[in-house]
Amino acid sequence: MLGDDGDVGDDSFDRLVGMLDYTMFVVTTQADGHPSGCLVGFATQTSMRPVRFLVGLSKNNHTTRVAARSDHLAVHVLARRHIGLAHLFGGQTGDQVDKFDHCSWRTGPEGMPILDDAVAWFVGRTLKRFDLGDHIGYLLAPLTGDAVEAANDLVSFSDVADMEPGHQA
Ligand SMILES: Cc1cc2nc3c(=O)[nH]c(=O)nc-3n(C[C@H](O)[C@H](O)[C@H](O)COP(=O)(O)O)c2cc1C
Repeated sequence: MLGDDGDVGDDSFDRLVGMLDYTMFVVTTQADGHPSGCLVGFATQTSMRPVRFLVGLSKNNHTTRVAARSDHLAVHVLARRHIGLAHLFGGQTGDQVDKFDHCSWRTGPEGMPILDDAVAWFVGRTLKRFDLGDHIGYLLAPLTGDAVEAANDLVSFSDVADMEPGHQA
């Protein structure tokens, strides 16, 4: 039986999510001239008209503290040949390392940090923040972005499942 206190009672839910594979994202933001970003698996489109996208940011992350002071996020997808960027943004924390000293990026729309090696990205305006548990949901209205015509080798959960996160969730 599934309880609503997060205690499933057996490992069926863990097994279910363990069967899933999904695209990973690098989510960046900026406040007071300070760029921040982290690897994110909890993210999905939630509406077509209007277009809406939801990002889950761990309450413990450096990025979440910066995002609290920003009205926008940038959402990137990576090709597997740039898996190193996934390790940088998911395995290090901005509390200790300036990740932006270790990658190629530029300031894009709304002052958001854009990763030069991303195969696609968009900048979204934050419409709402929700308490989701140990994560905060950011509901985004995509404003602008760029994408290659097609890509079939995106970094997915199975590529990074063994990674030790830079911050405990
Ligand atoms: C497979 C995987 C999935 C992750 N998914 C999320 C996520 O959905 N949301 C999130 O906030 N952090 C997620 N993280 C953790 C952050 O990317 C990681 O703790 C990062 O180092 C935080 O950086 P920061 O403290 O600079 O923000 C994930 C990490 C891994 C390895």
